[in-house]
Amino acid sequence: MTVETFASADALALALADRVARAITAKPDIVLGLPAGRTPIALYRAIVASSHARHLDWSRVRTFNIDEFVSPAPPDESSQTFERFIHEHLLDLVNLEPSNIDRPNGRAFDLEAECARYERAIARAGGLDLLLLGIGANGHIGFNEPGSAPHDRTHIATLTGSTRQANAYLFGNDASLVPRRALTMGIGTLRDAREIVLVATGVEKAAPVAAMTQGPVTPQVPASLLRGHPRMIVMVDRPSHPT
Ligand code: GLP
Repeated sequence: MTVETFASADALALALADRVARAITAKPDIVLGLPAGRTPIALYRAIVASSHARHLDWSRVRTFNIDEFVSPAPPDESSQTFERFIHEHLLDLVNLEPSNIDRPNGRAFDLEAECARYERAIARAGGLDLLLLGIGANGHIGFNEPGSAPHDRTHIATLTGSTRQANAYLFGNDASLVPRRALTMGIGTLRDAREIVLVATGVEKAAPVAAMTQGPVTPQVPASLLRGHPRMIVMVDRPSHPT
């Protein structure tokens, strides 16, 4: 786990965009794992800008979203999903082929079958080449909450109160509207990625970043379970990693 500290969140976003562009250039059919959340908004903006500036070709890139709320409601304009979020901030803004985009379907009738389908789809694509990750205030990654097992595959997760609160911004700031369950790639799925770039910005991420990088490796801090990954970079700004 290498930690790279940047003077600002903007500098970090530019460096990440450059890293992603180089990865796509080196492997045009790269398989990406993609997070939602507030942190990636600036990152996706930089990735889109750099892609346009370089005329980067995304037509063979394949993408897998990391997680999704379980929501029985039919899709409508008011419903919020990570799928919609990632489309708005990245997928619709580059020349990705719709058939190369996949996500865990939180509205599937049979959620267990959907988790198994998603694992098979990732495997059929050859596995994740480059996984972009955020981190939750309690150290969660994807929706793998404290207590998650290191070898978990894609599964149905029960969200903690703090995670539902952290996602309330997607539901009119009303945590009671945040679904109680989600589908998420498991820690085992995430750890299988050939390269992981975890990004954290802002002072509210200082505690989970410290716990992940310096604390014990424990299921109580799910991100710490990634320690020992052979190719993992943690990109942080100064507020999230004061030294
Ligand atoms: C959410 C998502 C994660 C995300 C994390 C941090 O609950 N499931 O994928 O990385 O929380 O989000 P943010 O960047 O908004 O702090």
